[in-house]
Formats: sequence, C-alpha cells, structure tokens
Amino acid sequence: MISAGEKRPLTGHVDVWYCFTDDHRLDNRLEQYEAMLSSAESQQYQQLMFGGNGRDYLVSRALLRTVLADYCSLAPEKISFCVNAYGKPELSNSDEQGAIQFNTAHTSGLTVCVVTRGNDIGVDVESRAESRSVLNMADDYFSVLELQALNSRADDQQLDYFYRYWTLKEAYIKARGEGLSIPLHDFSVVLDEQGAFTSFVGPEADRWDFSIVCKNINYTAAIAMGGKINGIAYAHSIPLGLKVELSADEAFNHFPVSASGPRNRMNG
Ligand SMILES: CC(C)(COP(=O)(O)OP(=O)(O)OC[C@H]1O[C@@H](n2cnc3c(N)ncnc32)[C@H](O)[C@@H]1OP(=O)(O)O)[C@@H](O)C(=O)NCCC(=O)NCCS
Repeated sequence: MISAGEKRPLTGHVDVWYCFTDDHRLDNRLEQYEAMLSSAESQQYQQLMFGGNGRDYLVSRALLRTVLADYCSLAPEKISFCVNAYGKPELSNSDEQGAIQFNTAHTSGLTVCVVTRGNDIGVDVESRAESRSVLNMADDYFSVLELQALNSRADDQQLDYFYRYWTLKEAYIKARGEGLSIPLHDFSVVLDEQGAFTSFVGPEADRWDFSIVCKNINYTAAIAMGGKINGIAYAHSIPLGLKVELSADEAFNHFPVSASGPRNRMNG
C-alpha cells in the first residue's frame, strides 16, 4: 500500500508517484496549485511561464507538495524545504527530522517524485528522443565499462540502453546530492541481458541499490537508493484529486488524458 500513513513508507521501500502534466484533469486545479507555492516557487513559475514550461513546473511542485503533505500530515502549502550545499532539496519540517527522504524529477509531460524513509534517494526521468544522435553524448558521460556494454548492444537496442544508463547514473548523482562534483566516469552501473540493474561499481558499492521504474515508448525513469530496495509501490496522482495505486506493469503505461491527445514531445 502506498497510502501515506503511520510510518509509511517503511525503510527500504520506495513510493513512486507520478503525474502526466498534459492531463486535462489538472486544468481546473491550476489556481489551487499556485496557491500552494512559496514566494520563491511563485517567482520561478512566473519566469517559466514565459518560456512555456510553467505548467510542467507548477504541476511538479503540486505533486511534490501534496505527496509530502500526506506523509508529514501537513497542508501542502505548509511543507517547507531547505537545500544542501549543492541545491538538493530536503524537508525542513518533517515531523521526524530527516526520516522522510524524497527526490523529484521532471521532463516534458511527466513529473515523478519518490519517497522513502531513512536512506538517501534519487530519481531521474527522461523523455526519449527519436534520433540516435543523443548516443554521441555517451562518450562524455559514461564510464569505459558502460561504453563497452552500450556498444556491445545491437543497434536497435542502443537508444533504450542509453536512457537506462543515463537515468541510473543521474539518479545516483541526485541521491548523493552533490551534483556534478561526482565524476561521472568514476562509477558504473551494470545491466543484465534484459536491461535490469545487476551491480554497481564505485564508492561504497555494497551500499547502493538501483531500479528502472519506468520504461515505455516515451519515457525512462530510474531510482538510486543508499540502501537495499526491498519494495517499490507506484501511484498515479492528480494533485488534490485522483490517486490510483498501480502495479509495476501498469504504472506509466496509460496515456495522459488530454483534450488534444498526448503532445508529441521530444527531450526536455
Ligand atoms: C540539479 C540537477 C539535479 C539537475 O537535474 P535536471 O536533469 O536538470 O533536473 P531533474 O528533473 O532530474 O531534477 C530536478 C529536481 O532535482 C532536485 N534537485 C536540485 N538539485 C539537486 C541536487 N543537487 N541533488 C539532487 N536533487 C536535486 C530538485 O527538486 C529539482 O526540482 P525543481 O526543478 O522543481 O527544483 C543535477 O543533478 C545535474 O545538473 N545533473 C547533471 C546532469 C548530467 O550531466 N547528467 C549526466 C547523467 S549520465
């Protein structure tokens, strides 16, 4: 059960919440979402409105605030954040200081937040580009081990594997919370033949666990946790509205309900 209640989630368990930001069921709630924002978030939202990414940002903050409000038994607008030296947001008013750990990621059309208890946690989500040109970025970002593994894949699997490696690496950086001060070439994630995480090569290797939590035609998302992942629960949320728990197979695999159909989005 993902329902936030007494001691949820349990240590070692990760709750994955997501929302498709194009969903038209969000439309009549946007004003309520705006009312939840801190003044710094409001400023950021106003700036992003000019660039056309305001809605993604607003829904992302609303998802994060409503989800954390449930775990902390507070109103969404009462959730307050502090950031570490590298900008990783943390809860400043959790009832058990530091016990609830969370992280969030967003890409065009989708926002994800993950919550656990006690362990460092990170998440990344990427929308999938159609063009193989993104593969050129692997040289700059992947370790030698990862590059060899990627290049050993059949041509038609490489984009899929690229996004697996990318999101797993980024989730690890976000879990550590030290940004790009962590050299990307100095650690490796190892995947099996089915593309699932098998092992980690890097500092405190035994401490870290990983999982691909979303893999579909449009998006890839991964989590990293500084402790063993014993269970993952999934829920689709319309903040202040619908909450639906889903199995791992069902999660992310439904179209957003959009008046105009899902936007044909590229990387974002
Ligand atoms: C700050 C950083 C998280 C940016 O990531 P991004 O891809 O632009 O954005 P994401 O959607 O994944 O995450 C954004 C969220 O991460 C959180 N965040 C910010 N700084 C963070 C940090 N140091 N650690 C963890 N989480 C952080 C915030 O909640 C932010 O949400 P907001 O935009 O609503 O404030 C940072 O890790 C970064 O620049 N990473 C390098 C990217 C890279 O080169 N990756 C290579 C992977 S192979």
